[in-house]
Amino acid sequence: MSLLKVPSAAGAQGYEIVVRRNPLGMVVALCALATLVSPAAADELAGTWVPQDLTMEILASAPQNVRVLVFKEKARGALTGKLLVPGLAGMPIAVQRDGPRIRLVLQMARGMETPLDATVAGDRLTVGAAGSMDQPAPLRRASEQESRKLEELAPRKLPLPAMQSLPANGLARTPPMGFSTWNHFATAIDDRTIREVAEAMVTTGLRDAGYVYVNIDDGWQGVRDEHGELRANGKFPDMKALADYLHERGLKLGIYTSPGPTSCAGFVGSYGHEEQDARTFAAWGVDYVKYDWCSAGLLYDDDEMPAVYLKMAQAIRATGRPMVFSICQYGRADVWTWGAEVGGNLWRTTGDITDRWAVMSTIGFGQDELTPFAGPGRWNDPDMLEVGNGHMTAAEYRTHVTLWAMLAAPLIAGHDVRRSSPETIALLTNRAVLAVDQDALGRPGRRVVQRGPHEIWTRPLTGERTAVALFNRGETPATIEATLAELGIDERASAVDVWTGRSLGVLEGKLASEVEPHGVVLLVLSPASA
Ligand code: GLA
Repeated sequence: MSLLKVPSAAGAQGYEIVVRRNPLGMVVALCALATLVSPAAADELAGTWVPQDLTMEILASAPQNVRVLVFKEKARGALTGKLLVPGLAGMPIAVQRDGPRIRLVLQMARGMETPLDATVAGDRLTVGAAGSMDQPAPLRRASEQESRKLEELAPRKLPLPAMQSLPANGLARTPPMGFSTWNHFATAIDDRTIREVAEAMVTTGLRDAGYVYVNIDDGWQGVRDEHGELRANGKFPDMKALADYLHERGLKLGIYTSPGPTSCAGFVGSYGHEEQDARTFAAWGVDYVKYDWCSAGLLYDDDEMPAVYLKMAQAIRATGRPMVFSICQYGRADVWTWGAEVGGNLWRTTGDITDRWAVMSTIGFGQDELTPFAGPGRWNDPDMLEVGNGHMTAAEYRTHVTLWAMLAAPLIAGHDVRRSSPETIALLTNRAVLAVDQDALGRPGRRVVQRGPHEIWTRPLTGERTAVALFNRGETPATIEATLAELGIDERASAVDVWTGRSLGVLEGKLASEVEPHGVVLLVLSPASA
């Protein structure tokens, strides 16, 4: 998934707004609650704004092509905004005002914000890229007829449960490991592919290394029958049989749905059928549910996310079948502070990863401040692995796996396992590296040293050991060094190079290692007997 500029209904005039799309080219829901700054000009902006050249015909025939901005006064003087793509997605907008200057910030995901400049004059609103109004998008207030149509198109808000803190479900005491279809296959999935992947999980040794979840992401859903029962589409003739097939091989089945009317790829969501769908998943033998915000942004605000996720967690618990609950809302609304209480075993802390060094490293190295919130049964999820998908070097993929292990992140392989190279399998199945990820203490690592592009992270492990990762984010080879005191480690420590298994003997007072560009050296240090 990437960030693309999507022309709006007024595209002919060059109006573009950045939204996330999935590989099928469908717009994906994003959002976050709008914050707001200055009460001063709330009235001016408040209301519903549509592209200047919108017609009722466009709104009726292709509402998903229309971009609507809605600004409402929430608390006293506070204005919240939303970008709506009717029928498809809703994305929060933070409104900041500084005198006549209006800054609108589209809040897609943690760390993914798009600033826009806007000017308002009476019934005209002009929006353009921050700092340059080269190709401004002219908007006007919606007419009464258009507002009525928009209301008609909007899904109804459902009652949400009263907030409560759910006890831990006892699952995922170490970060979940497995495979997901999304990164490589997107929606090009079927029963046969899943079975072949499952076979390959066994023959490549991935299963025996701990990768047991086989997660079917977006694209399996069919339609609801006359009783509202959600059926898989024709590519998955018998989900129960598929679950049995996986279980017979020591694997587990993961499935994907959304609290919205539609999933991010446009398939039917669990909106209004949460309990029924949870029962269906339980009856099929599902072991893991990923619940992806997507079109829920059309009807709920980000501050309603906890209750929306709680609702599904309660539905899952009510089935009596243990299912890992994976929260996916792109790291908005500080999910790490409430994800566990609403029943989440893991929660995404970012927008979507792609198979690119810049994206992977920005996501991975951007997790430091969140690590205190994770622990056994409740993990930060910086998204699935890209190892084996071909657009990073061996060193970069090693950094990817090492960083995820230091973060105690879920390890969900995202390549075509049927076509795994020996190098990919070696990267994914190094037992000593996996032991760092899966360490029973369950305490993620932190950045302790940063010198330009060189970073040292440490992670406490069982047995008074410490994992130390020396990362070189730079473009040239470098010697990365630190005193053991800087790392909070005893003056004398025995060291092992984790990737090679080589013992480095006893370190006295400091450590140093040559690290290749975009590469890493991972050590485990244990107290040296005096
Ligand atoms: C969102 C999620 C992805 C994936 C797609 C499926 O973008 O963040 O991980 O599940 O939806 O459409």
